[in-house]
Amino acid sequence: MVRISILTLLLFALGASASPSTHWLRPEKIPAPKENPITEERVALGKLLFFDPRLSRNDTVSCASCHIPYYYWTDRVPKAVGIDGRKGTRNTPTIINSAYLHSFFWDARASSLEEQALGPVEAKAEMDLSADEMVKKLRKIEGYAPLFKKAFGDKRITKERVAKAIAAFERTVVSGDTPFDRWVRGEKDAISQEAKEGYEIFIADGHCKSCHNGFNFTNESLNNIALGDDDPGAYVLNNNPIWRGSFKTPTLRNVAETSPYFHDGSVHTLEEAVYICGNGGRYKDLKGRSPFFRDRGLSMTQVRKVVRFLETLTEERPKIEPPETFPE
Ligand code: HEC
Ligand code: HEC
Repeated sequence: MVRISILTLLLFALGASASPSTHWLRPEKIPAPKENPITEERVALGKLLFFDPRLSRNDTVSCASCHIPYYYWTDRVPKAVGIDGRKGTRNTPTIINSAYLHSFFWDARASSLEEQALGPVEAKAEMDLSADEMVKKLRKIEGYAPLFKKAFGDKRITKERVAKAIAAFERTVVSGDTPFDRWVRGEKDAISQEAKEGYEIFIADGHCKSCHNGFNFTNESLNNIALGDDDPGAYVLNNNPIWRGSFKTPTLRNVAETSPYFHDGSVHTLEEAVYICGNGGRYKDLKGRSPFFRDRGLSMTQVRKVVRFLETLTEERPKIEPPETFPE
């Protein structure tokens, strides 16, 4: 008897705690590997390289062509468009908070920003320049040598250093304050009643939190959410069929501003994306759907409330300007 009432009390206390946990707040300290500290000089160099189209074969495409700061570092097209208008196969994810991630790309095939950085330079549908040719090109631009000296101690330009500088810059791109964060910190009216109800659905009935957890709203788990396209996804990592069609759980910060959605950019509205996620995917009976991705039977009313909640995860539009001049 006594035991039951204590349990009831505890459940009541948990359920009734109106204030959400502070684990939704971004840790102030930005992680960085020991061998690549975030120094002012590396960040400044990395920013130039991130915006410099000369890192592409024909000087037309930079990292920022697809990761556009104004669009929360995405490009707002279903599938990325690279050099010579070549269409990629996947949607461009944001780089916000990538400092905190442990796996990169939709299929998690890279395990550090340093490892990731030269992938797009070499990709045929992106910048189409081999890392060695890129280094040759950069060595011919006299203005870069002193900047590498400042950042790394001597003026040697190597692909490892290019990757390190870009990664250091990317680590400075972290999420800012949102109405949701203010609510978490105790500002009761920072978000609407509907958004609060949406949050409850997100963590309870919708089970969204089982994958979209923590301040960056992702535990980086790989899941097949039954979209039904033929992208192999994480299958390429070890050719194990259980990973076929699985993709990394993306962040939901600023998600109201980063349509189209999913790895294939196949969904244009947040309502539809949330509906798919709350109702077992696009094709409920698809073989291979992740066992953690179940049909939660969310109604349209619930979906709309979740959308109101997700809209509170939008920060002020990034105001990063491209560099005014590049090294000559
Ligand atoms: C043509 C458009 C395009 C260009 C140019 C481009 N990217 Fe990307 N970026 C993408 C796409 C698409 C993906 C997802 C690719 C995949 O998962 O296979 C991506 C993924 C990433 C990721 C992983 C994010 C995550 O959450 O996993 C990072 C970091 C990144 N790019 C940084 C860069 C850097 C640095 C450059 C320049 C050296 C660059 N990108 C150039 C389109 C682009
Ligand atoms: C089992 C893990 C899992 C659960 C549970 C889950 N998601 Fe997701 N979510 C993912 C994965 C994985 C993707 C990317 C899938 C892809 O592109 O193939 C995704 C994508 C999304 C996107 C698109 C984001 C973008 O930038 O493209 C939204 C929005 C979203 N989820 C919201 C939700 C909501 C709301 C719920 C609860 C109703 C939920 N998710 C439940 C794993 C999950």
